[in-house]
Amino acid sequence: MPSSSVSMHGMWSSRLMFILAATGSAVGVGNIWMFPYMVGVNGGSAFVLAYLICIAVIGVPVMMAEVLVGREGRQSPINSLISLSERSGLSPHWRVLGWMGALTGILILSFYGVISGWAMAYVVTTVSGDMNGVDASQVTAMFDSFTGDMTQVMVWQGAFMIATIFIVARGVGDGLEMAVKYLMPALFILILALIAYAATTDHFGEGFRFLFQFNAADLTAESILAAMGMAFFTLSLGMGTMIAYGAYMPPDANILGTVGLIAVLDTIVALMMGMVIFPLVFANGLEVSAGPGLMFITLPLAFGHMDGGQLFGGIFFLLVTFAALTSSISMIEPAVAWVVEKFKLTRAVAAIVIGGIAWLIGLGSVFSGNIWSDLQVLGDRTFFDSVVFLTSNILLPLGGLIFAIFAGWLLNREIISGQLEMSGPSLQVWSFLIRYIAPVAIFVVFVMALR
Ligand code: PHE
Repeated sequence: MPSSSVSMHGMWSSRLMFILAATGSAVGVGNIWMFPYMVGVNGGSAFVLAYLICIAVIGVPVMMAEVLVGREGRQSPINSLISLSERSGLSPHWRVLGWMGALTGILILSFYGVISGWAMAYVVTTVSGDMNGVDASQVTAMFDSFTGDMTQVMVWQGAFMIATIFIVARGVGDGLEMAVKYLMPALFILILALIAYAATTDHFGEGFRFLFQFNAADLTAESILAAMGMAFFTLSLGMGTMIAYGAYMPPDANILGTVGLIAVLDTIVALMMGMVIFPLVFANGLEVSAGPGLMFITLPLAFGHMDGGQLFGGIFFLLVTFAALTSSISMIEPAVAWVVEKFKLTRAVAAIVIGGIAWLIGLGSVFSGNIWSDLQVLGDRTFFDSVVFLTSNILLPLGGLIFAIFAGWLLNREIISGQLEMSGPSLQVWSFLIRYIAPVAIFVVFVMALR
């Protein structure tokens, strides 16, 4: 049975639209908030180096495989996996991988909604002028008191979740196209302006060295695991988002070129955010390892002291919110598309059900800043930290590992070469990376980190 050229869920109108949507998914709070905080917690440049290697040798080949499976299957990740398994003479039980991914997406959205809610709240805090002239200890205290205020955080998380559900319910439409076409470039320019600001502190060089003065000796098994998880997370890999988005991709777009571009853009945004945050951290005598609050402490401090910072900061946090939305919608797309196919529900109902579940679970992350702050779930981690760790460090790389084995070893080779439009050496390189490098690297990092 040849694959159909369209999906029942709709299609991206062009190759450019696919690039925008997939980049919109990849670029989000992961690059802007999580990357700098992970770099800080994991000791700087060694982590960055591991991250870059993971993007190149694991991320890109896995993303190509996800997109090709989606475009061949033209359905939700779960049903695409079933149909491609059957056509490759495999058991339909490979669908379990799709279920795992759909579930991971819901878990990711649960904490993502909380962080994005913080970003929304900071639009108001910054614009209102509350940050003007504050010092490091005040800004830290403000952050702690904000996250400690359960009702406030719940309201913002709720607002973000409603926005996400609303967009997913409407489907691949104009709103999304607008957001990615204009707001993403605007965000990019704003980050460049912030780098220019960071360069005016005399700690720019220090920040730069913290990020790029590679010293392999600093690498620990745990920091490599975190870097690998970060690579999966920022590229939206290991859970089916790129399978879902690939299903709506026009047949004539080249997968390697498209995926390469997305990976480069995504990586640039993460590195640029590092170049904004760390000079500010050093200039203000803050802790690099401040954790999840890092961005919400350093940036308001900068906005509070620059000319026009009130407005500039407000716009920045607003754009972060949009970047978050173009990512959050892609987290539940795999589950929503499946529910629509399976139960013949409308997208609106499916989005409300799936988004509602993520919302409920997310309350646990809201509470981690207040009434559950003493609750420890995985090891000494709060509920919030546990969900972050479980999804990005365990579930995404694990999903990527199983998927790499599926795509590299078991999937019908004709499907692969037809979709990738590659042959000869380039196909061999991809095959080598997906068959050997990606699974072995993920496996080794797991074993080392868990020992
Ligand atoms: N890539 C997104 C970010 O960096 C997060 C994401 C993860 C989106 C998994 C979809 C799937 O913010």
